[in-house]
Amino acid sequence: MEKEKKILYSGMQATNTLTLGNYLGALKNWVHLSEEYDCYYGVMDLHSLTVRQDPAAFRKNAKSLYALYVAAGLSPEENILYFQSHVSAHAELAWILNCFTYMGELNRMTQFKDKAAKHTDNVNAGLYTYPVLMAADILLYQADLVPVGADQKQHLEICRDIAARFNGIYGDVFTIPEPYIAKTGAKIQSLSDPEKKMSKSDENPNGAVLLLDDRDTVLRKFKRAVTDSESEVRFDPETKPGVSNLINIYSCVTGRSKEDIEKEFEGKGYGDFKAAVGEVVADELAPLQKRYNELMTEKTYLEERIRENDQKASYAANKTLRKVRKKVGLTEV
Ligand code: TYM
Repeated sequence: MEKEKKILYSGMQATNTLTLGNYLGALKNWVHLSEEYDCYYGVMDLHSLTVRQDPAAFRKNAKSLYALYVAAGLSPEENILYFQSHVSAHAELAWILNCFTYMGELNRMTQFKDKAAKHTDNVNAGLYTYPVLMAADILLYQADLVPVGADQKQHLEICRDIAARFNGIYGDVFTIPEPYIAKTGAKIQSLSDPEKKMSKSDENPNGAVLLLDDRDTVLRKFKRAVTDSESEVRFDPETKPGVSNLINIYSCVTGRSKEDIEKEFEGKGYGDFKAAVGEVVADELAPLQKRYNELMTEKTYLEERIRENDQKASYAANKTLRKVRKKVGLTEV
């Protein structure tokens, strides 16, 4: 008999186009893990509502994200690629879990503190309870593994705490998920300010390489990447954060070790090195972009896959939700 595969869950916010950080920290890993696990990947559109969205652009971005998942190599036939907001169980479980989460825990979330400082005019309750919705996403599918970048580690910890608390009261309802944070790629920094993470909301457009940037733009952004006043290509994040970030990116894309890369560029200047990193990144993105452009003309194909996968996700999620409702004593007739 075939052994049942373990379950993997992950997703991304449905805003703007993805950065190289999203790709190397998450999406690329999803693709190579997807054979080993039964995978659910959500377009996390409910999470995106914590920031005010233009409705038309938001709809477009969410669909574009779905196409990027597929273009990156996630088959919508082999994996469950779906929209979070199309499965109402997410919002329902999030409410229940809100009642099992302490404000003290949420107050410690660094991402909330950062985002609240950034969007002072809209520090809404959704931003505050964001990690609870994320816990609901993961726990609904009884996920064993959650591949994310390092910035999501704290959210995974609170998810595990909420699950353990709930299980402690009601018995083994939820699988306690393990984070999967890859050694390279988990923390891609901005090219213009290597002390900050690469992010789609970077004020400097040269800081983030976008997955849909054309070749010239990718090369230009790497050419302008901030380094230091030395000329040695050496991995040392403390004193050489810019160069180390580039080594990390190069290593992630080519699969080569940091030592190997240092050796290759021994005696060469930063100019050569930056150009080489730009080239490998542009080469990596080219097939993905080609497939993405094709997919954007295959509207019916994508919509059919979304509908099918929404249903499959809904089936799995509601199985857990029914169990939870019963455990907490919500009425059944
Ligand atoms: P989001 O949309 O901010 O990011 C998506 C994924 O990309 C990773 N990432 C990075 N990795 C390395 N370097 C970077 N510079 C970088 N920037 C982003 C993130 O760690 C993440 O893995 N809350 C999640 C979305 C979410 C989710 C979930 C994830 C909602 N529910 C349930 C897993 C399970 C988020 O904001 O991701």
